[in-house]
Amino acid sequence: MGKIIDGKAMSTLVKDEVRAEVEAIRAAGGRIPCLCVIIVGENPASQVYVRNKVKAAAYTGIESRLIELPADTTEETLLGHIRALNADPAVDGVLVQLPLPEQIDQEKVLDAIDPAKDVDGFHPSNVAGLWIGKDCTVPCTPAGILRLIDSTGVALKGKQAVVVGRSNIVGKPVAKLLLDRHATVTIAHSRTADLGAVTRQADVLVVAAGRAGLVTGDMVKPGAVVIDVGMNRNADGKLCGDVDFASAEPVAAWITPVPGGVGPMTIAMLMQNTLRCYRRRAGR
Ligand code: GUN
Repeated sequence: MGKIIDGKAMSTLVKDEVRAEVEAIRAAGGRIPCLCVIIVGENPASQVYVRNKVKAAAYTGIESRLIELPADTTEETLLGHIRALNADPAVDGVLVQLPLPEQIDQEKVLDAIDPAKDVDGFHPSNVAGLWIGKDCTVPCTPAGILRLIDSTGVALKGKQAVVVGRSNIVGKPVAKLLLDRHATVTIAHSRTADLGAVTRQADVLVVAAGRAGLVTGDMVKPGAVVIDVGMNRNADGKLCGDVDFASAEPVAAWITPVPGGVGPMTIAMLMQNTLRCYRRRAGR
């Protein structure tokens, strides 16, 4: 019988840690950390994510600013907003919600964010910092995944970890974080031959492929820790993961549900990243 990793409860714990720190800053008369979120267009999923980010900021006591731009915003206009926020000493974190409309070059936008305010950890200098082991901002979803694995008490050292998916946002950075914890890491993906043979080796299995039900119970090693990063809608419009929960849960020792697993943790780690950017900028 798999035990459920409660991402909602863990995310509350992380947000409460941040909240206590922000309260202490306030009590000491310090400037309050500030996160600025930019959304371009009306992608419904992005609107939900952004709303939840603003809500989480309010919960933790972090100030937030929301900049909502129309879908036909030019790249230059967006870059102008980013430059202004980079220059604003009261702003600690700048996040541009992805995806962006097609007239805007995502790479140019991510490159334009001051790395010291890059709460997503997507700027090339933070990506490089992660891979060479420098103190830098770690992307929120991978950081949240490590925290969820740690909450099980399962030690990563010497374990076989398999990551399914190779995105810049999740697959590649989470593989590096697992490597840092001395796991032996395999990165598999949608074109891996005999995916099940690879995933069945995993003591820790992280699935971030963006395909509903890609991993079924027969592809899970008995006793594994299974982390499902998928956020898909099934035919009935219900949110579901990349792992077929019904068949995987009885095989796994630990498993994250969708919803209520990785999703809430991503937002909690964004609050932690904002506080860290604030502290680095404030030199404390
Ligand atoms: N879109 C989907 N996930 C993310 C994320 O983690 N950060 C940003 N900025 N956009 C996203």
